[in-house]
Amino acid sequence: MNRNEIINTDCLDYLLAQPSDSIDFVLTSPPYDSMRLYKRKVEWSFGKFQSIAVELARCLKPGSVIVWVVGDETVNHSETGTSFRQALFFKDLGLNLYDTMIFEKANPMPGYRSSMYRQCFEYIFVLCKGEMRIFNPIMEKTTTTRETIYRKANKWSMENGKTTTGEQRRPTPGMRYHNNIFRYGVGGVSVDHPATFPMQLAIDMIYTYTDEGMTVYDPFAGSGTTNLAAYRLNRSAIGTEVVEEYAALAQNRIAAAMAQQQIDFGL
Ligand SMILES: C[S@@+](CC[C@H](N)C(=O)[O-])C[C@H]1O[C@@H](n2cnc3c(N)ncnc32)[C@H](O)[C@@H]1O
Repeated sequence: MNRNEIINTDCLDYLLAQPSDSIDFVLTSPPYDSMRLYKRKVEWSFGKFQSIAVELARCLKPGSVIVWVVGDETVNHSETGTSFRQALFFKDLGLNLYDTMIFEKANPMPGYRSSMYRQCFEYIFVLCKGEMRIFNPIMEKTTTTRETIYRKANKWSMENGKTTTGEQRRPTPGMRYHNNIFRYGVGGVSVDHPATFPMQLAIDMIYTYTDEGMTVYDPFAGSGTTNLAAYRLNRSAIGTEVVEEYAALAQNRIAAAMAQQQIDFGL
């Protein structure tokens, strides 16, 4: 039986109590500067981020991944750049920035400033402690049949008696890795939380960087999307959420999903 738990606490307090090299995988989305108030119960600053990042890097198992979904606030006509400052801080702590991926919104908010295009994406930073241990790529079908040219090294030519390189054409199988722009619809989930990320994003990231039976940790659990996705994929999950109302919301959603599964499977 997988564990699935939401703890109503500050993630920094939780992390300080964890042993080093103990966390299998982290998927999360922290507060974006001061864009949301979170019932006025959240204290957020770059210093607070740094303290949490130090602990996350310490607690992460070697070869494991943090998927950090984040965007910037625009203040006085300038994006804050906090997203990149955070990614670079993780690098300073010794983590590898494996990939800077894009979460493209299929249905972005209508533009409201005359001098900017519609903002339609956020960053997904993929950070790893050392060399990545698990990568289960999402595949997609290629739209055209192509031939790939393989270089054939060290081919000995009868004609001139020399060793040369040659080429060989072979048809490629019709599948390839998904590219690193992921497109999801946003909103449409009727929960009392202002900043949920899409369930499919959570499913895709957990699928890619974990195996069944592993434990997923979300320090900023919000409405519990990460925990729910982990449950669907047969992974254990722990979420920490500092706002009591959101922690209760997440706990209720997880309990409802488990009850629904019992009904579906007649347990
Ligand atoms: C961007 S939201 C995450 C939403 C989540 N991904 C979802 O789909 O519901 C960030 C959450 O972090 C919580 N939070 C902020 N600071 C925290 C801290 N120090 N420890 C735990 N939770 C915190 C906020 O209350 C908010 O619910």
